[in-house]
Amino acid sequence: MSTNTLQSEQLKIVIVGHVDHGKSTLVGRLFYDTGSLPEGKYEKIKTACERRGMPFEWAFLMDGLQAERDQNITIDTAQIWFRTKQRQYVIIDAPGHKEFLKNMVTGAASAEAALLLIDASEGVQEQSRRHGFLLSLLGIRQIAVLVNKMDLKGYSDKVFKSIEDEYRAFLKQFGVEPKLFIPIAAAKGDNVANKSTNMPWYSGPTVLEALDRFQTAEPPHNLPLRFPIQDVYRFDQRRILAGRVESGILRVGDKILFSPRNKVSTVKSIENWPHGSREVATAGESIGITLTEQIFVERGQIGSGEQDAPIEEDVFNAKFFWLGRQNLEVGRKIKLKLTTEEVECQIQSIEKLIDASTLEEIDTKSRPYVARNDVAEVTIRTKTPIAFDNADRIVNTGRFVFIDRFQVCGGGVISKGEYPDRRQVLSGVKSQNIFWSAGKITREIREQRNRHKGAILWLTGLSGAGKSTVATELERELFAMGLHTYILDGDNIRHGLSANLGFSPEDRTENIRRVAEVARLLMDAGVMVITAFISPYRDDRRLARSLVNEGEFVEVYVNAPLEVCEQRDPKGLYKKARAGEIANFTGVSAPYEPPDRPELVVHTDKQTPAECVAHIIDFLKLQYIDTDWSI
Ligand code: ADX
Repeated sequence: MSTNTLQSEQLKIVIVGHVDHGKSTLVGRLFYDTGSLPEGKYEKIKTACERRGMPFEWAFLMDGLQAERDQNITIDTAQIWFRTKQRQYVIIDAPGHKEFLKNMVTGAASAEAALLLIDASEGVQEQSRRHGFLLSLLGIRQIAVLVNKMDLKGYSDKVFKSIEDEYRAFLKQFGVEPKLFIPIAAAKGDNVANKSTNMPWYSGPTVLEALDRFQTAEPPHNLPLRFPIQDVYRFDQRRILAGRVESGILRVGDKILFSPRNKVSTVKSIENWPHGSREVATAGESIGITLTEQIFVERGQIGSGEQDAPIEEDVFNAKFFWLGRQNLEVGRKIKLKLTTEEVECQIQSIEKLIDASTLEEIDTKSRPYVARNDVAEVTIRTKTPIAFDNADRIVNTGRFVFIDRFQVCGGGVISKGEYPDRRQVLSGVKSQNIFWSAGKITREIREQRNRHKGAILWLTGLSGAGKSTVATELERELFAMGLHTYILDGDNIRHGLSANLGFSPEDRTENIRRVAEVARLLMDAGVMVITAFISPYRDDRRLARSLVNEGEFVEVYVNAPLEVCEQRDPKGLYKKARAGEIANFTGVSAPYEPPDRPELVVHTDKQTPAECVAHIIDFLKLQYIDTDWSI
């Protein structure tokens, strides 16, 4: 799209509805009433209809336009235009919901608003419901529902009202609130461009007025810069990074951050194809750039400003529609494609499954996989971190498709959800010019004197699982055995070292990073460190483990089912969380990722604290404690 078209305001709309609910008639009528039809078109169809002795058929108008459009290669075949006094409209063709979904997801055509047709004489059909659902999945919030063919129902306000009530209640289930319900008779023109005199009980706007009330999406050049790299070419000495600016503005001299992996360089030139150069490029343009410093950049990375960069994560939430013939099971490897990034991923857990044809929620315990035509809410884990945005913020870098054996087999939208942006952690932001200063008392000397090794016993589990109880008992036992030991406990650390942190995903990650660092120092001082933190994210625990040597990190999963923890509710927090008084509460409104390969598991619902402690000490005796020591 050229920048010229961006300047004159235009709104992209999609008209959806059951095949016979009057789509073409409505479009024909809209074109006629706005004077958007080519000269003589209307008269031609009128004569043709009269000759055949049939009433005027609006749908023929559209068929005529379609045929013309197909011959005219200069017109984009997926879109047709009309104007009101206020602005230009583009209608996106969506023959079926699958084509529509694919177009929307791959960014071929993104509608900003939708008109959804329901036939007054048939009422709400299965397809009307499915369409409403898909619109909501794709994040189209501006919807007007048109109850058509009111003439066939004697323009009855009762009929209209009962359809409105039924459909409103249905859409509400997934949080969609249509802007308007409008009773129309498209064939007769009632309430399309002109107010109908047949329905004095309706005082709302006509379809055209409703359209003019919709808002255009923020032009993507006002959003932060996103420049996904399509390819890297080498020409003589230069390396040219080619791609399309998906949003924002890119200028020569700008510092660009490439995600994932956080490498920064400066734009030296913007290359024009096949020759020449320029200073600025904006959203929608395909360009090539060169950089001042030659850093390693490859296809799939996203360029952005240093501020307001995309999210970088390997775990996130997504909602998608599955079209694949084969079921998608938890753990199956599949390819995810988002802009030019492609990465292997798997579904880590399924939170919600809905059959898109019946709209019934499926019990994920009895059916732990996604089947064709399902809409699924899931947690996805990618093999390596990818850069993306929440789809409701920057749609082009927030939608993805699944590819299985070279076929698009599903697609949807991403949200970071309750997982932390790992940009800071992954980039390992560290001050420059710092050195590690080694003391004269080595770790070995301390261990010899202590007669035991230092280690980190990392207790993880839900709130109320018994981490603190087990930790306190364990500390007492170890101390009695003559070990140097110390507990780092969630609630205590949050009184001091982490007093400035809350429970957002990023704060939790930072909390655990601090604890892991302190635990490492204490261990270096020869202490048998016990930590008791929920530490809900697998990646955070992995990071804590990576700070020390193999064998020095003992992950203990303090396991008790959520129901049990909730029933115990020692601090009354679950109750508050259920009542909505605490946000992001682990297990209720924030995730907990159980360890996949912990060194130890204790079951506090089946074992007493003493039994749990005995189990841990048995393990320690095998490798960490010199049972033969004397003081
Ligand atoms: S962690 O997620 O960052 O590891 P941490 O173990 O430090 O959490 O703190 C958990 C304790 O904080 C809980 O035992 C509970 O007492 C309290 N708490 C307060 N708000 C929350 C919350 N939203 N989610 C979980 N725990 C909370």
